[in-house]
Amino acid sequence: MITVEVPAKVNVQLGVGGLRADGFHDLANVFFAVALGDRVTAAPGAGVTLTCAGPDAALVPLDDSNLAARAARLLAAHHGIEPDVRLHIDKAIPVAGGMAGGSADGAAALVACDALWELDTPLETLLELAAELGSDVPFALVGGVALGRGRGEILEGLPVSGTFHWVFAVADGGLSTPAVFRECDRLREEAGTGSTEAEVPTPDADPALLAALADGDPVALAEALANDLQAAALSLRPSLADTLRAGTEAGALAALVSGSGPTCAFLAKDAEAAEAVGRALTESGTCRAAHVTHGPVPGAAISAPRP
Ligand code: C5P
Repeated sequence: MITVEVPAKVNVQLGVGGLRADGFHDLANVFFAVALGDRVTAAPGAGVTLTCAGPDAALVPLDDSNLAARAARLLAAHHGIEPDVRLHIDKAIPVAGGMAGGSADGAAALVACDALWELDTPLETLLELAAELGSDVPFALVGGVALGRGRGEILEGLPVSGTFHWVFAVADGGLSTPAVFRECDRLREEAGTGSTEAEVPTPDADPALLAALADGDPVALAEALANDLQAAALSLRPSLADTLRAGTEAGALAALVSGSGPTCAFLAKDAEAAEAVGRALTESGTCRAAHVTHGPVPGAAISAPRP
């Protein structure tokens, strides 16, 4: 049996360009991997079977729409072999939460099946297969901090120093990523700026944000955090404003919606401050749960099986 640990992500910058003809948006997407992760195991089986455990397991689809199952089939098809595997997901990443949990499971399944089937697929190929599965899947393979261009799948690793401390407030119920992108387009149309590729300037990584990451400076990073999807997520889920406020009032350096939401991310000065923000958020009644964690951490990697 192979066990793979895989991180969730927060976007420390999510610059969203105009709507492309293929239905995607060009991004300047600075991914940051955090130590809030899923664990995916792959064991010998007949065909692809999938099970899931964890507090949100009931929300995870176990059919072929699950990215872990799709990853197993895609890798097997690429090598012309039968996809025989029993996959199990230990789910800690919020489901439909804007932290790329489904993408993480897809990346973990690629790594786990590759090892189980002894395929030794080059990383380049795994990254190509990952991009076929979804825009956020390649990043879950590499982890750390990376700039994602295109629809987020063209990755460039970024220099980063030290450890940053985060708190994630999980909401009741998820948000659909396509719906949040559509709402972003609608808000742009409403504001009169237009929403197409021709109308919206191509986003770029913010030099101040890149410097803050390279310097390991949480105060500077807090000032530079930016998410172009935040207004859309707040428009669809106005109550997130209360969550964001509760975290900043508790001493977070900054608060933002994680990706397409509804999970909210809070950057803290240090581990102690993060614990305090986590406690305050739990007591605030503005979220279902608060997770204190840190990053960056590596991408999907094989680990020892649980004792
Ligand atoms: O690539 P993925 O399957 O994760 O994308 C889900 C949906 O999110 C897309 O179908 C699209 O509606 C939206 N999306 C987008 N631009 C991106 C990434 C995702 O519009 N760069």
